[in-house]
Amino acid sequence: MNSLVIPNMNPNLLLNKYLPLIEQVATVVELGNVEKALLHKKTGELAMVLRALKDISDPAERKQQGAAANVVKAQLEAALATARQRLGGQTGAVTVDESLPAIVPARGHWHPLHLVQTELVDIFRSLNFAVYEGNERETDDYCFEFLNIPASHPARDLQDTFYLDTKRSDGLKEVMRTHTSNMQVRMMQQQQPPLRMVVPGRVFRNEAVDASHEHTFYQLEGCVVDKDISIAQLTYLLRLAMSTLLKADVKIRLRPGYFPYVEPGFEADCSCTQCAGKGCAVCKYTGWVEMLGCGMIHPNVFKAAGYPAGTYTGFAFGIGINRLAMLKYGINDIRYFMQNDLRWLKQF
Ligand code: PHE
Repeated sequence: MNSLVIPNMNPNLLLNKYLPLIEQVATVVELGNVEKALLHKKTGELAMVLRALKDISDPAERKQQGAAANVVKAQLEAALATARQRLGGQTGAVTVDESLPAIVPARGHWHPLHLVQTELVDIFRSLNFAVYEGNERETDDYCFEFLNIPASHPARDLQDTFYLDTKRSDGLKEVMRTHTSNMQVRMMQQQQPPLRMVVPGRVFRNEAVDASHEHTFYQLEGCVVDKDISIAQLTYLLRLAMSTLLKADVKIRLRPGYFPYVEPGFEADCSCTQCAGKGCAVCKYTGWVEMLGCGMIHPNVFKAAGYPAGTYTGFAFGIGINRLAMLKYGINDIRYFMQNDLRWLKQF
């Protein structure tokens, strides 16, 4: 017997069929197609012939057929190589038009809140502030109690809180932190003054959502404790940080504000950089944007931290990062940040 088990797979037939084809191909694409028709692992005709060899039961016959198939294979491969050379040495089945513009792959990018947060953190880092991250899930005491807000205090109503029904072995209640101020006493307990720190992070309030209120937003807490710290230093620092971030010479305005953990306490406004004080939608036509709460740290907070009475002074502030991003980019609805609309996010 001088033919393979599958008669149509006589390798010499492949020579007759393919050699003229290979000699005639005019483009690399055509060459690629012929190559595929011959050599494709599953459907290539030559590949099938070679695969069929193992089904020949007689060893002597298998050897002979194998040798014949290999001669054909070598001849076809030589012809393919010659054609490839003739067409300029290209190998791939795909032609590349180098004059076409490149396809730019989609790239990820930072969220506007992240941009503002990192810029702020960098500014404070450059002023030698330590940066800490805190717990988003916090015990009642660090979020309220140690901050001079006892359970019975009416100030508990100031922030609508998400209380958790966790059962801790120490009996403490847990909340989703309503502000990054939860880190004030935590960090004070761990170190002695001088203390200079910022804490960026996510906070949660059980609020009705509208254009200027979100249930989840970001703050950056700042805290400086030493001897003889003053309000003048606080305003200087805020002005420096805001002006650097907003790349403008901003003004800071302090209004009396009530936070039980500071005395005196202030609401700080920043002059509107979108309209330079003339009035626009971002500043609600007032020329000022409410930016943060701040004040001089209350003696009861130092007491909770275990600092000796009457020794240290300090200030704390909590910047709303969303508000700041709105001012920086001229965004007039806080809900955009959490909507995850890529068309919107891609602008930053
Ligand atoms: N924790 C306050 C808030 O959430 C901001 C604040 C921080 C006020 C520090 C005073 C001092 O609005």
